[in-house]
Amino acid sequence: THVVTENCIKCKYTDCVDVCPVDCFKEGPNFLIIDPEECIDCAVCVPECPAEAIFAEEDVPADQQEFIQINAELCASENYKTITKRKAALEDADEWNGQSDKLQYLVR
Ligand code: F3S
Repeated sequence: THVVTENCIKCKYTDCVDVCPVDCFKEGPNFLIIDPEECIDCAVCVPECPAEAIFAEEDVPADQQEFIQINAELCASENYKTITKRKAALEDADEWNGQSDKLQYLVR
């Protein structure tokens, strides 16, 4: 599977969802996740993300490993719904892009 990591939090650019052939993204209040049961590892979303937040599971950086579990868990959250079309990024997305320690702001 592929995994959405920390830099998506508070950005949510959503360019990723437009290219997904299997509609495996789910949207929460300030983050997107990839449903590991649906992702076919095509990788087309990876270069689309302006925040460079998407990685193949085997390439997830060491300090982002917990996001593998977070994607899988939030898949079942009632706050996360399938998203198939791009929408406006969150307000201040450009200011949050690249900031560290954003996990504390994740709305599950
Ligand atoms: Fe998030 Fe990047 Fe998609 S910021 S919503 S993973 S384009």
